Amino acid sequence: MATTTRRIKSVEDSIRDTDEPEHRLKRHLSGLDLAVFGIGVIIGTGIFVLTGEVAKTTTGPSVALSFVVAGVVCGLAAVCYAEFASTVPVAGSAYTFSYATLGEFVAWIIGWDLVLELALGAATVSVGWSGYLNQLLGDLGIPLPTSIAGEEATVNIPAILIALVMTGVLILGIKLSSRVTSVIVAIKIVIVLLVIAVGIFYVKAANYTPFVPPARPTETGSGWTAPLIQTLFGFAPSTFGVGGILAGAAIVFFAFIGFDIVATAAEETKNPEKDLPRGIIGSLVVCTVLYVAVSLVVVGMQRYTELSTEAPLADAFRSVGLPFFSGVISVGALAGLTSVVMILMLGQSRVLFAMSRDRLLPPGLAAVHPRYGTPYKITLITGVVVAVLAGLVPLGTLAELVNIGTLFAFVLVSIGVIILRRTRPDLPRPFRVPLVPVIPVVSALACVYLMLNLPGETWARFGIWMVIGVALYFAYGRSHSRFTTPGGREDAAAANAARRR
Ligand code: ALA
Repeated sequence: MATTTRRIKSVEDSIRDTDEPEHRLKRHLSGLDLAVFGIGVIIGTGIFVLTGEVAKTTTGPSVALSFVVAGVVCGLAAVCYAEFASTVPVAGSAYTFSYATLGEFVAWIIGWDLVLELALGAATVSVGWSGYLNQLLGDLGIPLPTSIAGEEATVNIPAILIALVMTGVLILGIKLSSRVTSVIVAIKIVIVLLVIAVGIFYVKAANYTPFVPPARPTETGSGWTAPLIQTLFGFAPSTFGVGGILAGAAIVFFAFIGFDIVATAAEETKNPEKDLPRGIIGSLVVCTVLYVAVSLVVVGMQRYTELSTEAPLADAFRSVGLPFFSGVISVGALAGLTSVVMILMLGQSRVLFAMSRDRLLPPGLAAVHPRYGTPYKITLITGVVVAVLAGLVPLGTLAELVNIGTLFAFVLVSIGVIILRRTRPDLPRPFRVPLVPVIPVVSALACVYLMLNLPGETWARFGIWMVIGVALYFAYGRSHSRFTTPGGREDAAAANAARRR
């Protein structure tokens, strides 16, 4: 273990790797492309689906406050991501950052952890997509049987198809995918603005009272499903109240996942120093404002106890006698979820690409397609795994598993900023986190706090996933890594020399 934590891949090595011809990705994304990518992946299941469920079961009308809390936590992490991404503009995001600071073992752990966020997230959203498709087909009078579509399906055919089609788009090239995304993002923003602009005229003040319903015991009465923090500190498991707002924040956090993925496109960015921070922080700010507005409007239109847990935005419009808008919102949600699936898979393929380039996974997987310039093998594998998961696994509560995995990555990135400032103060940092170490420390603590607000059972699943990851590292990655080859040893020497300077 001691030796693996000393295996630090220098920032220079990370950047040099991107110039190897057989591993070179095309650089053609601008700051605006990145912000579009960010918004394309951020706005999705979180606002279109989870708002209803969280308001109904956990927070009441104060779900907007949960969005504010989650948005602030993400903002803190976002500035840390922005510094890292502008300093180490290399594919792989949190994985690459950890390799440069905390060493190979932690990097592997993060790469493994990101599978929860990216592949599992893509599969979750594919299942949500299938649910919306069936709702729309139902409105048109041609619903698919529930055995092959929607969350209860035995084999979820639409979920499989959307994952595979998006895989094809990704293999054909990132410029194509960014064009597809621009159109989808425009539709999505128009739909969200429509919800706010039309819905606001149907808000009833009475629906806001009580804004924070009084805390009451959980329905199961079990500590297993209650936030871990309540179990740890011996509180009776409860929902609503102030605790509900925080537990709600840990769930609607899912709605913000994605700004970090902008960092995974670092290597394909024209001017990473300026464009990355702008893309990451810009997309986050836009989404936070929209979420707070949408959630306030929706809980104002319909009493929180009556909100739909599957299509709350569309259903709120139906409840006030506007079925046409309800249909339009369903179409928008469908388009919106499409881009989320695609970009989550894009992020997953780039992280795995970086890991196999470092030989923690078989290096042949990192091959770039000679014509399309995309890592086609990794993308195909990612797409097939996501399709199988989406097609066969009922993913209902797994959004929480996606959240805990993502928050864990944020914690390590925040700590990594402080470490890299100490070990490599010489590196040019086009974007710097203000007030280091205060902001990164607060960011890490805030993420841990949100993690503690997730249920005990989510922690158990997370623990099992991580144990499997550690076992795989010792079975394969440790003995095959770049540090075990002659070239790798030189890399290690250079890295250590750089750290001593
Ligand atoms: N933030 C993305 C969503 O809400 C993952 O679907």
